[in-house]
Parts: sequence; structure tokens; C-alpha cells
Amino acid sequence: MTQTPTSAEEALATATNEASLARSIARSAQIEADIAVNPGHYRMLTGVRPTGHMHLGHYFGTMHSWQSIQDAGVETWILVADYQVITDRDSVGPIRERVMSLVADTLAVGVDPRRSTIFAHSGVAAANQLMLPFLSLVTESELHRNPTVKAELEAADGRAMTGLMLTYPVHQAADILFCQANLVPVGKDQLPHLEQARLIAQRFDKRYGRAVEDHPVFRRPEALLSEAPLLLGLDGEKMSKSRRNTIELRMSADETAKLLKKAKTDSERVITYDPAARPEVSNLLMLASLCGAGAPQQIADSIGDGGAGALKALVTEAVNEFFAPIRARRAELVADEGHLSQVLAQGTQRAREVAQATLDDVRTAMGMDYA
Ligand code: TRP
Repeated sequence: MTQTPTSAEEALATATNEASLARSIARSAQIEADIAVNPGHYRMLTGVRPTGHMHLGHYFGTMHSWQSIQDAGVETWILVADYQVITDRDSVGPIRERVMSLVADTLAVGVDPRRSTIFAHSGVAAANQLMLPFLSLVTESELHRNPTVKAELEAADGRAMTGLMLTYPVHQAADILFCQANLVPVGKDQLPHLEQARLIAQRFDKRYGRAVEDHPVFRRPEALLSEAPLLLGLDGEKMSKSRRNTIELRMSADETAKLLKKAKTDSERVITYDPAARPEVSNLLMLASLCGAGAPQQIADSIGDGGAGALKALVTEAVNEFFAPIRARRAELVADEGHLSQVLAQGTQRAREVAQATLDDVRTAMGMDYA
């Protein structure tokens, strides 16, 4: 959005995007205020791809809000998006282990399986079936225009894109629409997916809605935009599981200390908070701040000319203290894989029931409920 547009068309698209982003931010704030008053109006769905272990970036980006949304009284659904793993990689990796790890992380951060639903894509046949009528409601060029799909295609560097990659925004729409979620916490990169889901819901209801006596088959999902600060990896690059530059929730205090000791800083001895000029140092200050050590600026002042060593010691203590209770809960949880499986099985069963009810409505609306 900071690039200079090269044509009037692009200028228009940028302006439209900015205006619609501003609208989404305003609407999201409105929803947030309304949750406190009318939590029962909302069902929240969030999805995570089980491609590795969850880390601090995930936690401060999204997971930290799951418990507060749940505790506000919003029905909370957490999707283990296992089918999405096969959109952008050839192998699913140690999928069972990763799924169980994700369930453990989810419970450890405070999601209560008695009130919330944790489920996996692959177990909910009726939800996946929605993909078929949904595919008839989108055009190929619309899919090619999706920014995430476009970015993937560019990153693929000439390698062929699979049909699932091209259509995965439709699959994501099926996730959101089958469970009648109307609230989806997302970063702004996911806004186009949500728009796609709304379009599919609208088009379906327009085309088939009359058959279901006035009540629309689908709810219209809205974004809950997270304004989480972007944390960098310990090497100062984009934080990502594959770069191994993260601290995982499951790591011990010692492992955390070791990783932070090796974190990249700079040669300036006096610690200052200056994200533009000193991204690595500022990132560590932000991390300590998120873990409750005070404002980044204040922390920097308190360290002064103590140098990178003092900064790292402070960050290590803040991170380890903050995550100690979550890690302790997690350790108990992983000791009982039977429990984790049971939580996932129960959530998936619940999702199946809801998906079947939605699919029944869909088939009725389409006049295909004869068999
Ligand atoms: N696409 C999301 C991601 O890559 C994960 C996801 C799948 C999701 N289905 C979803 C998120 C439904 C929200 C709602 O992170």
C-alpha cells in the first residue's frame, strides 16, 4: 500500500482498498464494543494450520484473545485446518503430532473444551461437501485475483499451482459458513477471504434462498481485526516456523534462554527503542513489553548502557515468567494424549452435527433433498 501506483486503475484499487480497510477497522471496533453487551449474538471461528508448533508470534497475534473472547460469552470455535496443510506443501509432515500439539496449545492458552469447540477439517464431511455448490458461485478470474492466491502463485516461481491452492479461499468460506460463524479474527491480509465468504453467502441466498421461506441459509461473517504489533524473529527476519527463528510455547525456560542469548542485536551499547533504525533491539523490547515488563521505551531507559546482555537477560526473564503458567498447563496436557484426542473427537462430533444441519438446509434450498 506504500508503493506508488503505476496506473489509474491501480490508484483506484489502492484507494478502494484503503477505504475498505478503514471501514473494516471501524466496524471491527464497533463489534468489539458490542461483544461486551451482546456476546450471545456472536459465534467466533478461527482456524490454524497445523504445520508446526505454535510460537510467541501466534500467541501475541491471535491466541491470547481466544480465552477473553470465550470468557466474554461468545461461542468459540477453533478449527485445526488440517486440509489446508495440503494446499501449499507436498507432504503433511508428522501431522498427528502437530495436530495434538496444537490442541494442547489451544487448551493451554485457556480455551475450555466444555464451552468451546475444537475440531479438524478432515473429520467434518458435510462441511467439505459445501465446497461443491460454493465452487459454482465463484468465477475462475475472481479466484486468480485473490491476493493470497496471487502471492502464492508468484512465490511458486514457475511451479504449477494446484487446484486446491486456487480454490482454498472457497474452502475457507465453507469453514466459516457451515458453522454459522459471524465473527472471524483475522489480520488484514485475510480480509479478502472474508469478503469472498460473504459473497458466496449472498450469492447462494440470492440464487436459492427463496426455497427456505425467507430465512437466509447463511449468516454474514465479519472480521475482528487484530491490531497486534508485528513481532520479528530472533534473527530480525520475518518470524516463521520454517526459519526456526521463533520461541515456541512448548519450549522450556532453559531453551528460551539459550535462543534469546543468540538473538541478533546491534553494536550500539546504549539500548533505545527505535523500531525503524534498530529493528532487532526494538523487537526484543516489544517482546518484553508484551510479556508485561512495561512500555518498550521505559524498559530501554531502565537498561540504558547495560548493553545487549542486560537486554537479553531482561527479555528472558519476562518471557519465562509470562509463559510459565501456560507452559505448566501444557506439560500436564501433553502427558495425557488420550484427553487431547477426546477433546478433538468431541469437538469434531459437535462440528459434524452443525455441518449436517447446514448441509440439510442447503440441499433443501437447492431442491435436492429427495434422497
Ligand atoms: N487460512 C487461515 C491461515 O492460513 C487458516 C484458516 C482456515 C482459517 N480456515 C479458516 C481462518 C477459517 C479463519 C477461518 O491462517
